Amino acid sequence: MAEEQRRAPLFEALQAYARKVRAPLHVPGHKMGRAAPPEWRAFLGESGLAIDQTEAPGLDDLHAPEGVIAEAQELAAAAFGAWRSYFLVGGTTAGLHALILAACEPGTAIAVPRHAHRSVLGALILAGLRPHWVRVAFDPELGLATGADRGSLQEALQGAAAAVLVHPTYYGIAAALEAEIGLVHGAGLPVLVDEAHGTHFAFHPDLPPSALSLGADGVVQSVHKTGGSLTQSSLCHLGRGSRLTPARVAEMLRLVQTTSPSYLLMASLDVARRALALEGRAAWERALVLAEEARRRVEAIPGLRVRPTDDPTKLLIDVRRRSISGFRAAEWLWDEAGVAVEAAGLTYLLAVLTPGDTMETVDTLAAALSRLPSDEGVPALPPEPPWPEVVMTPRAAYLGPKRAVPLEEAVGRIAAELVAPYPPGIPVVAPGERLTRDVVDYLGHAARSGWHLQGPADPRLRSIQVVEE
Ligand SMILES: Cc1ncc(COP(=O)(O)O)c(C=O)c1O
Repeated sequence: MAEEQRRAPLFEALQAYARKVRAPLHVPGHKMGRAAPPEWRAFLGESGLAIDQTEAPGLDDLHAPEGVIAEAQELAAAAFGAWRSYFLVGGTTAGLHALILAACEPGTAIAVPRHAHRSVLGALILAGLRPHWVRVAFDPELGLATGADRGSLQEALQGAAAAVLVHPTYYGIAAALEAEIGLVHGAGLPVLVDEAHGTHFAFHPDLPPSALSLGADGVVQSVHKTGGSLTQSSLCHLGRGSRLTPARVAEMLRLVQTTSPSYLLMASLDVARRALALEGRAAWERALVLAEEARRRVEAIPGLRVRPTDDPTKLLIDVRRRSISGFRAAEWLWDEAGVAVEAAGLTYLLAVLTPGDTMETVDTLAAALSRLPSDEGVPALPPEPPWPEVVMTPRAAYLGPKRAVPLEEAVGRIAAELVAPYPPGIPVVAPGERLTRDVVDYLGHAARSGWHLQGPADPRLRSIQVVEE
């Protein structure tokens, strides 16, 4: 790795500022922690608060970077293999919003896989786009979405202005990204990749290839998830040869991001990039070894199986043969053993390992899992949700006049909100789609079964928001 990657220009500038300043007559008003509540200061530490700064001398400006932020972003671009990289303080959500706004004019269509994160739907609402939904394939045993259907993607590209791809899924399934990018580029369209869970891919050859290395035009990564930075900090990249223009992406970032970006978050991106560039390979080698050991130990426990995924550091544990649901297992692990997993579904647990883990973590997980009780059994997996009938744009449905009606009375109405039950973790209905009998029955079943429902204003879904007609 190039010598320049040893630098962390933004972090260095913040420390230099804290050493030099005598009279910080500007916000933030806690004045480097001096006016912060003492217990907070004691807990966080003085040095952390001292670099919670704003656009003070020498600290550059995220929205018009020419100094240390520009340098730090250039170092990030070099480390990740990007043409341009941008710091995000509003998570991957902000980056997806900016990329989609930059790629598509209002009223145009965009190809979106049905298992895309709700932040993508948020971008469709903000930008006033028409979704061309892409069907997804499901793992027949665990009931979770595994990736976009190629034929459906091909169809969805017709008349679209861009395509969104998800790489990897939440569960570490990395899809045939190269072929999918080829399809989208073959149609002459830009590819925007949600790589929220793949920041680490560029730093170890045993991990799936990164979207940038496969020619994506725009990529967003939640560095806070696996890259080691603070929660809420992400990176948006443009690939070399990107069909998007940096000026337009920067403009959209100015639109969607705060004018007071946290320097703590940005500095954490700067140092996380340095660590990945300098020691990423060794660190992820350790994580891969740990994950392999964890897999071996879990597989040895009666009734448990680890479903292979493309990212081995995601441990997707099938609990069905233990006669317990994943939800119940996650609750038991937390209550009885203090083990907190990343996610649980009806049939599985998801544990995420990173260089922050040790053999002790693996021991604790394996010991707890070996004591996991058998319970009431695992309810049957739901059938695939009905395919949506899109009636109006998500923007018109979500932002226009709407009201709540009892779920049973919603048949035939147009949904004004998203409802994504877990399982299957994809929207059963999105704003602008018809609430057919099938959709209402599916949602009723999900609500009665106590599945986690993402999106609706009424979390128990006794009522649902519909478009006022
Ligand atoms: C696949 C996917 N995309 C996007 C996001 C949004 O990322 P962030 O929380 O960094 O805004 C998430 C968050 O969980 C996600 O899982």
